[in-house]
Amino acid sequence: MQRQVDIEEAMARSLPLPLAIAIVKDPAGKYNPISVAWAMNTSKEPPMLAISIGRMRYSFEGLEANKQFVVAFPSSTMAGDTVFFGTHSGRDMDKLSYYGTATEPAIRIDGVLLRDAVVNFECEVAGKIDSGDHRIYIGKILLAHVHQDPDVKRLYAIEPDRLGTVKVDEEYSSPRAK
Ligand SMILES: Cc1cc2nc3c(=O)[nH]c(=O)nc-3n(C[C@H](O)[C@H](O)[C@H](O)COP(=O)(O)O)c2cc1C
Repeated sequence: MQRQVDIEEAMARSLPLPLAIAIVKDPAGKYNPISVAWAMNTSKEPPMLAISIGRMRYSFEGLEANKQFVVAFPSSTMAGDTVFFGTHSGRDMDKLSYYGTATEPAIRIDGVLLRDAVVNFECEVAGKIDSGDHRIYIGKILLAHVHQDPDVKRLYAIEPDRLGTVKVDEEYSSPRAK
C-alpha cells in the first residue's frame, strides 16, 4: 500500500542511483571533475548519453564554454574520488591534482579520462534541455574506453548518506596521497 509523501522524501527513498563522474575543461583551461548521479543513456544509434548539471555548478560554466566532456563510470576503488568531486568545487581548486586521481589524455576531444575508471566515454555536446534549476547536456559519444582489467568492478550506487557500501564522511576530504 502506498503512502502519499513530500516529493523530496520520495526522491530520497528512490536512492540508490547510478554514479558517474563527468570531466569538463573549465574556462581557465583545467580539467574539472564533477560527480553526477543524474546521468543516462539516451540513444543507441548514434550512441548518446545525457547528464544533468546544476546551473550553480562550476562545471556548468565549463560545459557552456567548451561543449565537450568525458563521462567516466568509477570503479569500486574510486569511492573517495567520487565523494570528493561531488563535495568540492573546481572554482576553488584543481580537484584532480589535489586528490591525486590518475588521468590519461582523451583522444577525440580536449579532455582527460580517469585511468582507474571502469569505462570512459568521450562526448561532444549535441543538445541541451533546460530542466528547472539544472540543464541537461546530451552528449554524442565519439569514443569509448574500458579498463584493461575485466575484473575491475563499478562503484554503482549511492544511498542516503552513503556511497555504495562506503559511508560519505570526512574520511574522503583528504587527498589520496595523504
Ligand atoms: C554522489 C553525488 C552525485 C551528484 N550528482 C549530481 C548531478 O547529477 N548533477 C549535479 O549538477 N550535481 C551533482 N552532484 C553535486 C556536484 O557533484 C557538486 O556540487 C560538485 O561539488 C560540483 O562541482 P563543480 O562546482 O566543480 O562543478 C552530486 C554530488 C554527489 C556527491
